[in-house]
Amino acid sequence: MRVVDTIAELRQARAQLQGLVGLVPTMGALHAGHMSLVNAAREDCDTVVVTIFVNPTQFAPNEDLDAYPRDLPADLAKLEAAGVDLVFTPTPETMYPSNYQTFVEVEKVSQGKEGAHRPGHFRGVATIVTKLFNLTQPDAAYFGQKDAQQVAVIKALVRDLNFPLDIVILPIVREADGLAMSSRNVYLNPNERRAATALNRSLQAAAAAYDAGERHPERLRQTALAVLNAEPLAHVDYVSVADAVTLEELTAPSENPILLSLTARVGLPRLLDNCLLPYSLNTREALTRILGGEV
Ligand code: PAJ
Repeated sequence: MRVVDTIAELRQARAQLQGLVGLVPTMGALHAGHMSLVNAAREDCDTVVVTIFVNPTQFAPNEDLDAYPRDLPADLAKLEAAGVDLVFTPTPETMYPSNYQTFVEVEKVSQGKEGAHRPGHFRGVATIVTKLFNLTQPDAAYFGQKDAQQVAVIKALVRDLNFPLDIVILPIVREADGLAMSSRNVYLNPNERRAATALNRSLQAAAAAYDAGERHPERLRQTALAVLNAEPLAHVDYVSVADAVTLEELTAPSENPILLSLTARVGLPRLLDNCLLPYSLNTREALTRILGGEV
């Protein structure tokens, strides 16, 4: 496994790669969710490239950029064991030198939900992902359902700017009690850790209502919200019931699959979770096709 941190080394290493190249962009502090993307890329592609970069432009000034968990030695050991070929670990100065002035903005799907709570976040994501696509020139890039709106932003970016690559979406990897894996879960104390299961429990409650025939978006939303509100340590930001293809908020029942997504602060971290409804659509194949539309 080769580890490089400059643009020149990356370009030189990329030029030597043969066959299908799979890219997994990450911010490090790797857990089993990240590794599911790496393993899928390893199965599908001849070469796997992973990037580890805590991207400052996607953090607002009041967010946890400095406190974001970092553990490069542990990350590299996991990637080596998974058979990764090339790892790119640039510094912020390498990606954003002092004269940096170009940003990529995906309009509609960046608005609302995470976009409303984190102004500028998806501009930073679209910008860094564009740079990573240009630098690594992958045939396929792997992303997690965990950040569902990010998926829609990246699919729009790939369509609109004609990147010649496939986007593959992998389902959310969860802890045994259902909590979605996240680098930020390390911030939870034991009580908060127990409370954090309310996010997935609230998705499950709405999924059960959907299975029982409930289609009205507001009633599905209230079903999920009731479970979150019953947990005193969880402070809800939003519960969204949206069209899974367009990500537009639903106000009336729709025949299309639904993206139910929610965030709540539990202790320090803001936690995210989501599912497609019907629940049987939370698979690689369905997510890759449906979530955020076809590429
Ligand atoms: P990061 O939060 O490190 O996540 C990297 C990838 O892992 C994302 O595609 C994310 O959706 C996926 N992921 C995270 N938790 C997961 C889980 N429990 N199950 C499955 N996949 C999971 O997302 C980012 O970094 C950044 O925004 C990035 C795309 C790298 C741009 O900076």
